[in-house]
Amino acid sequence: MNFQNTLQFAQEKDQQDSLKEFRNEFIFTEDNNGKSQLYFCGNSLGLQPKSAKAALENELQDWAKWGVEGHFHGRKPWFHYHKFLTDFTAEVVGAKPVEVVVMNQLTVNLHLLMASFYRPQNGRYKIIMEAGAFPSDMYAVESQVRFHGYNYDEAVIELKPRDGEHTLRTEDILEAIENNKNEIALVFFSGVQYYTGQLFDIQTITKKAHEIGALAGFDLAHAAGNAELKLHDWEVDFAAWCSYKYLNSGPGNVSGVYIHEKHCTNPETPRFSGWWGYREDKRFLMQRGYQPEPGAAGWQMSNAPVFGMAVHLASLELFHKAGIHNLRAKSIQLTNYLEFILTEVQKNNPKLKFEIITPNDSNQRGAQLSLLVLENGKDIFDHLTQNNIIADWREPNVIRIAPTPMYNSFEDVFQLGQVLYQY
Ligand SMILES: Cc1ncc(COP(=O)(O)O)c(C=O)c1O
Repeated sequence: MNFQNTLQFAQEKDQQDSLKEFRNEFIFTEDNNGKSQLYFCGNSLGLQPKSAKAALENELQDWAKWGVEGHFHGRKPWFHYHKFLTDFTAEVVGAKPVEVVVMNQLTVNLHLLMASFYRPQNGRYKIIMEAGAFPSDMYAVESQVRFHGYNYDEAVIELKPRDGEHTLRTEDILEAIENNKNEIALVFFSGVQYYTGQLFDIQTITKKAHEIGALAGFDLAHAAGNAELKLHDWEVDFAAWCSYKYLNSGPGNVSGVYIHEKHCTNPETPRFSGWWGYREDKRFLMQRGYQPEPGAAGWQMSNAPVFGMAVHLASLELFHKAGIHNLRAKSIQLTNYLEFILTEVQKNNPKLKFEIITPNDSNQRGAQLSLLVLENGKDIFDHLTQNNIIADWREPNVIRIAPTPMYNSFEDVFQLGQVLYQY
């Protein structure tokens, strides 16, 4: 694709964009003077869909009208509320409906999944993961291995990029798995690395994990709604993600869970249980002896947090309408355009000294580019913010910029470049 650093080119691209109308479905943030901002922070907290408010209000109204009877008589009965989200969730991550459920929050779900799928035995007790994983993942893994009587250094293999490189090579991941093939119980990676923006080769990593007799699980916080995933076909064992980044469902909102059919339809798969995962037809009989609902739904513990899930459902409807395949196709172009604009700007403004540490191959990245800024990083970031460009800053020296295909335009990217010229 021959890109051009002109407003006309960006606007033409927007005209040709079959998803351009989705921008109007979102509320853009404003500065103190009411001026709309350019939002590039969907990798951290996505914008609010306009439909979120009505979705939430419907549930408040049903609660007001029905009280406890809303569990059965509401417009979307709360008794099986999670089912309204199942099909759309399965679409987003490339799973069968039976393999997914929305419940709890991300770190909680990672623990629940590790309770099921990190079970050291027969000399296999190690977890292999990327060094510098998101802190919550590190803490979750640390507490899991300690829970099983190991310490972090003996049980966790952290993979670092080669000297002078910023991201991991797939071949190095595979080699490390092979080198520890009799001791690894769990291969646990993110889908998209939060700091570098690297999209891991989930299929290849999963295949290698299985080859050595281990299981493969993924934290898809930065991949869900961003990359095109085929979790079932890739035979991923388990995954979880949050709904507030690319999935635009609001701060701290519920998490999605995927468990491969071969595990989730087996009632013997060990798990921590609660009443909401109990067989739905018998849930209110209040009997002894746990009988799980078939599928990932059998991992639910508590009753559905309906207000959060209502907002998430409103957002998932937009993903269903737009289509994850179409979003990804646009995303590749938009991120490539951002890379082009950043490179142009850097050529012309010697004050901008940064390196893009996200891989330049589209197959190895999602919507985010991470700029390792070599001089005045925080100052450049503040310049963006003062000019109404919302990106995010990660210590010690990275600016993350994520043009999300759902609501960002080529013109947004062009305008970001104009602001950087002025630095
Ligand atoms: C990769 C990753 N894992 C885990 C978390 C923690 O999510 P939660 O606070 O919903 O448990 C985050 C939050 O941003 C994240 O980015």
